[in-house]
This record gives sequence, C-alpha cells and structure tokens, in this order.
Amino acid sequence: MTQPHRRTVLVTGGARGLGRALCARFLRAGWNVAAMDVDARSGTAAARTLTALGPLRFLAGDVADEAQVRDCVGETVRSFGALHAVVNNAGIADPYQGPRKRSRSSDGTAGSQST
Ligand SMILES: NC(=O)c1ccc[n+]([C@@H]2O[C@H](COP(=O)([O-])OP(=O)(O)OC[C@H]3O[C@@H](n4cnc5c(N)ncnc54)[C@H](O)[C@@H]3O)[C@@H](O)[C@H]2O)c1
Repeated sequence: MTQPHRRTVLVTGGARGLGRALCARFLRAGWNVAAMDVDARSGTAAARTLTALGPLRFLAGDVADEAQVRDCVGETVRSFGALHAVVNNAGIADPYQGPRKRSRSSDGTAGSQST
C-alpha cells in the first residue's frame, strides 16, 4: 500500500458527504488518502468503493478525541510514509434540524443556542 512518491492527505469526516467526495477527488488526482470518521460502518462501506480509485485507508476515529486524532495521524504516516495535507472536514451539518439545546436568558427572551 505504501507509495512514498505520491502525496498523502488525511480527510476527516471522510465516510460520507463532502468528505467522501473529497476523498474521491484526491484519489483521482493521484494522492494517497487516509479517511478518518467516527462512523465506522459508513467508512468501511466507502472504503470498499473508493479503493477502486487509488490507495485509500479508512481509519475509525473521533476528531473530538485528541488521542484518537494522534493515532490516526500516526497510522497515516505508517501506512503511506508521510502526511502532506489535512482537510478538517468532520462536523455536523443539518439545516433541517435546529439546535439540540435552546437556552433562555434570565429576562425570558431567547438566549444562546448550542448544537
Ligand atoms: N453540506 C452543507 O451544506 C454544509 C454547509 C456548511 C458547512 N458544512 C460543513 O462541511 C462538513 C461536511 O458536511 P457534510 O454535508 O458532508 O456532512 P455529512 O454529515 O454528510 O458528513 C459529515 C461526516 O463527518 C463525520 N463526523 C461527524 N462528527 C465527527 C467526529 N467528531 N469525528 C469524526 N468524524 C465525524 C460524520 O460521521 C460524517 O461522515 C461539515 O463540517 C459541515 O459542518 C456543510
């Protein structure tokens, strides 16, 4: 799997959506790709398809956990020999779902929202 002459990118949130599309784009451009995602089932399914385009390694991990990020970076370098770029794509985007929590100010008006 190691192809040190190619450049290597780590794409977070690479199992689905924009991240998965970015993985495909990098593979088509000749890069090694490490796709990190907390959703191992989708990541494994994506890897089955995307490896037809080039060298891709799926790594299960949560970007909110520093140790898991460190492990994924280490695993990427072990697999491909180097790491040249990171796309920090992982996140939650659902325009049809409001914030998970809505707080109210002490005066009863709408306060800050958090997701
Ligand atoms: N789609 C849009 O219109 C839009 C607009 C603005 C910003 N964004 C941002 O772009 C990024 C991708 O959006 P998308 O529409 O492809 O979303 P998506 O939900 O289709 O994909 C996001 C991926 O990130 C993964 N993920 C979420 N939290 C994670 C974590 N803690 N650790 C590792 N992986 C995690 C999910 O499992 C999923 O595979 C997000 O950061 C989103 O906030 C998207």
